[in-house]
Amino acid sequence: MDDVEKGHGPAVLAGDAAAAAGEEAESVPTADVELLNIHKTYLLGLEGVAALRGVSLRIEHGEWVIVYGTSGGGKTSLLNIIGTIDKPTKGELRVCDVLIQPNTPDDTLANIRLEKLGFVFQTFNLLPTLNAIENVELPMVMHGQLSRQERRQRAEYSLEKVGLGHRMFHYPHKLSGGEQQRVTIARAIANSPKVLLLDEPTGDLDTVNTRRVMALLHNLNREQKMTMIMVTHDVSLKHFAHRVVYMRDGKVARIETVPDAQRNKAWADLQAEAAANKTIAEEAQGSGGPITVFKDPREYATYSKQSDAILSLLPPLPIGSANYSMPPAASKQQSLLSVQVPPAMPSALASATAAAAVSAATAPPLAALSIATNVV
Ligand SMILES: Nc1ncnc2c1ncn2[C@@H]1O[C@H](COP(=O)(O)OP(=O)(O)OP(=O)(O)O)[C@@H](O)[C@H]1O
Ligand SMILES: [Mg+2]
Repeated sequence: MDDVEKGHGPAVLAGDAAAAAGEEAESVPTADVELLNIHKTYLLGLEGVAALRGVSLRIEHGEWVIVYGTSGGGKTSLLNIIGTIDKPTKGELRVCDVLIQPNTPDDTLANIRLEKLGFVFQTFNLLPTLNAIENVELPMVMHGQLSRQERRQRAEYSLEKVGLGHRMFHYPHKLSGGEQQRVTIARAIANSPKVLLLDEPTGDLDTVNTRRVMALLHNLNREQKMTMIMVTHDVSLKHFAHRVVYMRDGKVARIETVPDAQRNKAWADLQAEAAANKTIAEEAQGSGGPITVFKDPREYATYSKQSDAILSLLPPLPIGSANYSMPPAASKQQSLLSVQVPPAMPSALASATAAAAVSAATAPPLAALSIATNVV
């Protein structure tokens, strides 16, 4: 069943590097996530829904794990438990050396989320009234530990890292789907999390943008040793990870280790495809692309009052970005437009907020909000 840690994975890579450098290899790899016999049962009316039924898993620092499985198999529930958005009904959970128990205070969990974890979900979950850089700054604002200047520097760095240095002041509706997802990744990595949790991050993306996001994740994992736990339905992505966990009926049905040769090939194929695409894009340059119609985010049906609630906690924005400015009048070209789909207001954000609201009677409101804002 579990053919884990048999000569592959980052623990071995780290050991190899240490040996190459003439240092003594670490004998005991450190786990970022440990689950021992985790159960999660949701109460639905009078009935209990068993989403997780005894999951045990250990994920090492620097490892990339992909989670596959049947719909309803418990993948999102697993991610929510690891992300401390939900607490297990039974079992032992350790995230970044913190033991999570049913009585762990909500503000402790909020701190783990803000300091150690980054979240990326299928829907991009950017606040429509904030531009890219303000969206990236948001979790840092909530955390309240950095000066305004430090926050801005980190946000700039993160956006550069995901290749969006030229889009910092664009509002979400002026970004493509792939760019929006890269902003959410920039937001998730701005606090330099140890663990990145991703729930179908490429689910809403076309193949070109899927490749871009995968390249970004690959680099974060390889260069920064960021641990990644990624749920996906896309089987073509599985060879990017060190291990693949298959979930069924709330249990781990199988775990596969991806051989290093296969991982290297996945990466080489991705680079080759990216290079081919670049050539196509260069050839197409000058032929003119689709132009986006701009619209006040508040006009979207999906605009949520949640945004206003969060915005009211923010310090004043720099001059020029505080007010949404309407675009220039429609030009001739804009009559040929393709209209960009407005960003859906975050379902994960809404559900996380709802989850927070359940415990809001006892939890400080800021802890509840930090759940909402750090789920990106
Ligand atoms: N908040 C909730 N309340 C009640 N039942 C829930 C809740 N969240 C999940 N479930 C149930 O738990 C089970 C596992 O759900 P989960 O969302 O983890 O599945 P999944 O593997 O992520 O599925 P998918 O691939 O469709 O996203 C399902 O039967 C689901 O209906
Ligand atoms: Mg799911």
